[in-house]
Amino acid sequence: MKFFLDTANVKEIYEAASFGVLDGVTTNPSLVAKEGRSFKEMLQEICKIVDGPISAEVVSVEADAMVKEGRELANIHKNIVVKCPLIPEGIKATSKLAAEGIRVNVTLCFSPTQALLAAKAGAWCISPFIGRLDDVSSDGMALIRQIVTIYKNYDYKTLVLVASVRHPQHVVESALAGGHICTMPYNIFQSLFKHPLTDVGLKKFLDDWKAKGQQ
Ligand code: E4P
Repeated sequence: MKFFLDTANVKEIYEAASFGVLDGVTTNPSLVAKEGRSFKEMLQEICKIVDGPISAEVVSVEADAMVKEGRELANIHKNIVVKCPLIPEGIKATSKLAAEGIRVNVTLCFSPTQALLAAKAGAWCISPFIGRLDDVSSDGMALIRQIVTIYKNYDYKTLVLVASVRHPQHVVESALAGGHICTMPYNIFQSLFKHPLTDVGLKKFLDDWKAKGQQ
């Protein structure tokens, strides 16, 4: 499973990239707005840090405008993946951009029918938002399992990018469900490392080593 960082914060991306296990980055308009800087410059900087797919979302809601915006974003760097929302105009734009060879991440997916539409339009990946489904008492992970099965049934090449991840167990369940990519906030990425028995075990190894004066 690929690990993406779900952030527009360059410091967090630097930190996560330093472990050598980061495969890409996803941004969205809310995350970009939080940083308060030029979108283009930010994307250029992120592309220098991570050599992998970097999602950048369009903010137009009409297909032709989305296509124009998508082409501009894709021109910034070869690793940019254009994000289009899962609305009818977004699917039209996805079909056009995909036909031009531009990779599209179809975002704001909350149902299997939406995921089917994205695959049929030629999306590079689909982003089901599992945390937001859990927030409204739906089963986000069940949606991942459904989409993975449906895509396998028809051999769709569209990747399942698990988004709106809220805790490390979401990462584990995504991997068990066969999600291709899991995008996570930096605090969740950090939590993947942690286990108290690792810390206790390491302390004992080092204490035992020192106690016997080993060099
Ligand atoms: C990523 O592509 C999504 O925009 C992001 O995961 C949404 O996460 P949120 O539901 O925590 O805002």
